[in-house]
Amino acid sequence: MKAKTAVRPALSTVFSKAQRAFYERAADPPSVPGAGASSPGAGGSDRDAAPAAGASSARPKRKQGLARLMELAGRKRGLLVGAVALAVAASAARFSPFILVYFMMDQVVMHFHDLASIDWRFMAALAAGALAAAAVYGVAMYLSTMLAHTAAFNILYEVRVQLMGKLARVPSGFFSDVRQGEVKKVMSADVEQIEGFVAHHLADAASAASLPLVAIACLLAVDWRLALALVIPIVAAFILMGRALATPEGAACQAAMRASGETLEGTTVEYVHGMSVVKVFNRSLSAFRRFEADAREYVGNIKWATYFNASGMGRMYAAIGAQMLCLLVAVLLVLPGVSADGQSYARFVSTVLLFFLVGAGMKEPVLQMITQTVTMSGVNAAVERIDEILDYPDLAEPAEPREPQDASVEFSHVSFSYAGPDGPRALDDVSFRLPSGSITGLVGPSGGGKSTIAALILRFFDADEGSVRVGGVDVRELSSQRLSDTVSFVFQDTFLLADTLEANIRMGNEAATRDEVLAAARAACIDDVVARLPEGLDTRIGPGGTYLSGGEAQRVAIARVFLKDAPIVVLDEATAYADAENEGRIQQAFARLARDKTVLIIAHRLKTVEAADRILVMDEGRLAAQGPHDALVRKSALYRRMVEANERRDAWDMAAGKEDRRG
Ligand SMILES: Nc1ncnc2c1ncn2[C@@H]1O[C@H](COP(=O)(O)OP(=O)(O)OP(=O)(O)O)[C@@H](O)[C@H]1O
Ligand SMILES: [Mg+2]
Repeated sequence: MKAKTAVRPALSTVFSKAQRAFYERAADPPSVPGAGASSPGAGGSDRDAAPAAGASSARPKRKQGLARLMELAGRKRGLLVGAVALAVAASAARFSPFILVYFMMDQVVMHFHDLASIDWRFMAALAAGALAAAAVYGVAMYLSTMLAHTAAFNILYEVRVQLMGKLARVPSGFFSDVRQGEVKKVMSADVEQIEGFVAHHLADAASAASLPLVAIACLLAVDWRLALALVIPIVAAFILMGRALATPEGAACQAAMRASGETLEGTTVEYVHGMSVVKVFNRSLSAFRRFEADAREYVGNIKWATYFNASGMGRMYAAIGAQMLCLLVAVLLVLPGVSADGQSYARFVSTVLLFFLVGAGMKEPVLQMITQTVTMSGVNAAVERIDEILDYPDLAEPAEPREPQDASVEFSHVSFSYAGPDGPRALDDVSFRLPSGSITGLVGPSGGGKSTIAALILRFFDADEGSVRVGGVDVRELSSQRLSDTVSFVFQDTFLLADTLEANIRMGNEAATRDEVLAAARAACIDDVVARLPEGLDTRIGPGGTYLSGGEAQRVAIARVFLKDAPIVVLDEATAYADAENEGRIQQAFARLARDKTVLIIAHRLKTVEAADRILVMDEGRLAAQGPHDALVRKSALYRRMVEANERRDAWDMAAGKEDRRG
């Protein structure tokens, strides 16, 4: 057989960038992708499509496809097995009237010269059997559909519960912006795709696969030579289709189609999310261009796959279409062997009729089987993405948790990289100690590692080298509950639940009384907000309710921290809310919160931390200097530069303010 080359001179139009890259690589023999071994559309190419999806080599080997679906169904796997078994029974029932009617015809043919000699009781039994089979078909399909739907919703439930459980156990560092989008997609779209497949397609696939098998088994029993004439074209169709899809180009166009589909999905979400920013900067046209380019690339890859698959599909259809022709040839070959009496001829005619009838009906389930294979490959990809989350390592809980001894925080020789131990270091050999009850400022240029320090104290990530101690104990030896009870954190961007104001504050301590919630609201200086809202603490926040300003939201977060009353507090200073009154209130709330606690303030305005016991200056992941303000001004050039820059900014603010008032 002729070897298939990837370069197609006949192809005058190149549809997409991915396609061009493939042909360019193909022209350079050593780098032809070795993906040719993957099975037709069975998900083998999915991994090629997303090599950067973070599939770490340490992941446990999981089952795939249906076997994995069964595993995910957990205790409800019986339902799934039942649904499939009933679908198979239904296809047997669907086929049996053909055979029963064939036997009836056979009776008539055998007794055509004396119809009175027909055993009418036997005929009636055959007819009743055909009717019963029709009834069994209806009932089995109904029950199979019911079971499939029940199984589907159970799988949906089980998978979502497993995912939620997992998300509660992974380190908080897992939830980067990119991951959040991925997780959202897996939790909704991917889980629902599985539900849809199990509820609607699994039984179809089972009957599409079993109907031809049942039919062929029966036909083999009737006449194996004619049965072979029906089977050979179907087998040929599968082989032709499989061979076409399994070439490197087949795998490449499938992979390109899937990858560009995912890119487009991301661009679409980004485009819609960022629309307000795009509009403000009047960039809609250029932003749209990227969206358009991604859409074009996707369409190009679909065209490529369509163009490429067309010949394979065509050959497959031709093979299936040749079925009747094969049967005809087989009939002509078998005919001379039939005995030359009228009865044998008549019987042969009814057999041929049966084969033509059944053969014609077999095409539909065979084609359906191929469609279901494609659907199944989409489901495989969804299951794989779910497994990627389920396989993410849990935050390691200590076997014997220890108790913190005091409210100190200590870093000793801590190094950390977001990209694993060998990546660029976000923190490089950082050592410092925050004694119990002290107030410390954390300053430095953007990207210096300030937020990373906060993330390590909260154990969003574990240090690659050195140790982070809270209360004198390595954070890896504290239970996650104890760590969370000991350290509070106020983020720069506060997250509010779409719930009442009270519920939002109560997140700090579910057991607090309403009076305690009110006291926390007062301490965090949000009593003015409570008084202003129509239903006070019971006002709903967020969609369908009232929206709070950024500064107000941050004060709600501070109220949570008051209610939680943890001995260590990490604050990320808000800079975005320049409104003087709001800022004054936030500072006042910060000051109250800091009493009797160990406080680390990530400060963007040096004024905030000038009075702190000590200031840590971070620069490019290293602790550049530490000490009180006055000492730092004397000994740290970087700190002096920061102070000067701050003074210039304040002067500029004041000048701008004067301009404003004059204008
Ligand atoms: N999730 C992340 N994944 C990969 N790299 C990150 C991540 N977060 C931060 N980094 C990198 O780590 C380094 C330190 O970042 P970090 O956020 O700690 O700086 P920062 O001092 O808080 O800066 P800023 O003042 O701008 O908030 C930077 O080089 C940054 O690009
Ligand atoms: Mg930061």
